[in-house]
Amino acid sequence: MTPVTAVRRATVDDVEDITALEAEAFPDPWSENLVAQGADGSLPTVSYLVVERDGTFAGYAVVSVVDVDAELQRVAVLPGLRRTGVASALLDAARAHAAREGAGRLLLEVREDNAAAQSFYARHGFTELGRRPGYYRDGTTALVLSTPVTMAP
Ligand SMILES: CC(C)(COP(=O)(O)OP(=O)(O)OC[C@H]1O[C@@H](n2cnc3c(N)ncnc32)[C@H](O)[C@@H]1OP(=O)(O)O)[C@@H](O)C(=O)NCCC(=O)NCCS
Repeated sequence: MTPVTAVRRATVDDVEDITALEAEAFPDPWSENLVAQGADGSLPTVSYLVVERDGTFAGYAVVSVVDVDAELQRVAVLPGLRRTGVASALLDAARAHAAREGAGRLLLEVREDNAAAQSFYARHGFTELGRRPGYYRDGTTALVLSTPVTMAP
């Protein structure tokens, strides 16, 4: 059977899954406390989205919208479910959220050494806006990427 992929708003019940995936996916993971504040909606401008595969947690994205700029702060998928379209579903939902909030573009930073994420973003139409040398704690350069956001007709 074709798997069902669905994106929804995160709740406090997702904090444990999100925090565990943070620790797996990022060298500079966010704390459980910060994730909890985001998931319960108490951080201004920030929205947490969760994607489920057949009803089970599969990944999450964090998007912040300030005026016309939306920022994709995080996107991560459980290792065993990568390359099956899960992050693409999250990105579609993040774009739709940004459009509803009135953003004109979606920005993000990606590590220069993260080839998988760069391929993912290129596939989805992001282009390079600039570079931030030494942006990450370990000295790695960040690429700043951008894609236009338009309201669906
Ligand atoms: C980057 C990440 C979110 C992609 O998630 P995903 O669910 O595997 O992505 P999708 O299945 O939707 O991929 C769509 C397309 O992106 C590209 N892509 C994704 N992962 C790729 C990889 N490892 N290598 C090359 N291209 C890749 C491909 O074009 C892919 O299409 P294809 O599988 O038909 O070739 C995932 O690898 C991840 O969670 N990484 C760890 C966290 C991270 O680095 N997040 C980004 C921080 S900026």
